[in-house]
Amino acid sequence: MSEEPTRTLIAGNWKMHGLRAQLDEIDAMACSVRERPGNLDVLVCVPATLIARAVQAADGLIAIGGEDCSAEEAGSFTGDIDAEMLRDAGATSVIVGHSERRRWHHETDAIVAAKAKAAWQQDLATIICLGETGAQRRDGNALKVCGEQLAASLPTIKAGARISIAYEPLWAIGSGEIPTRDDIVAVLGHLRAALDTRFGSAARSIRMLYGGSVKPGNAREILDTPHVDGMLIGGSSLLAVEFNAILDIARERSPAVNCPLAQDKLS
Ligand code: 13P
Repeated sequence: MSEEPTRTLIAGNWKMHGLRAQLDEIDAMACSVRERPGNLDVLVCVPATLIARAVQAADGLIAIGGEDCSAEEAGSFTGDIDAEMLRDAGATSVIVGHSERRRWHHETDAIVAAKAKAAWQQDLATIICLGETGAQRRDGNALKVCGEQLAASLPTIKAGARISIAYEPLWAIGSGEIPTRDDIVAVLGHLRAALDTRFGSAARSIRMLYGGSVKPGNAREILDTPHVDGMLIGGSSLLAVEFNAILDIARERSPAVNCPLAQDKLS
């Protein structure tokens, strides 16, 4: 894997939201990137039904990703979508191990690791999600839980794989609450140290994202937190007016350095 310094990644996760009419939002996000590129990688992960159309609306200015993929290759798995299908539809990235998949679809760390491998097989950039529950945090187990999830959900990294780890505390998702700066630093620092121990210099290009109730009002504070290389955004990625406001904040942190847009290399 490359050891390029990390660029900030601002990623949206539309979850189970989005009909064709909402593609106007992608169009408006792409306009924002066209007008003010910045030294950022911008990605929106949408339901599989929208990927091909979202790619058109994004016009090469923002990357489009899937929200999950099967660990399997093509076969008798009714309703599932494999990594090759995502790639074929135009996705360049995929989220795996989101807490909503872990919770509602009983996905274990081992399944998440298998999905990450399947995604890398298709050269999809991968966001691997993890995070503690409110009870685990109250019991003082946040670092332990997140460290264990990282160890078991991230397979041995493949040369060239583009990987982000998204720390998304379950109690912060959709709640309007976010962890303190010190708590984010503690978890991400713990994860970064574990990556360094396990993979050495090869871990340097792995990005660490924060996710959970990111809004225009708290994005600056989160992006200024040590170890944060980007954010994974749910609700505030559905409307261009909010997502673009977050992009503007991220651009201030990573101003354009005369770099050509290379969103196909995302993310
Ligand atoms: P919210 O930003 O809506 O809290 O969602 C976070 C999330 O789950 C992103 O994957």
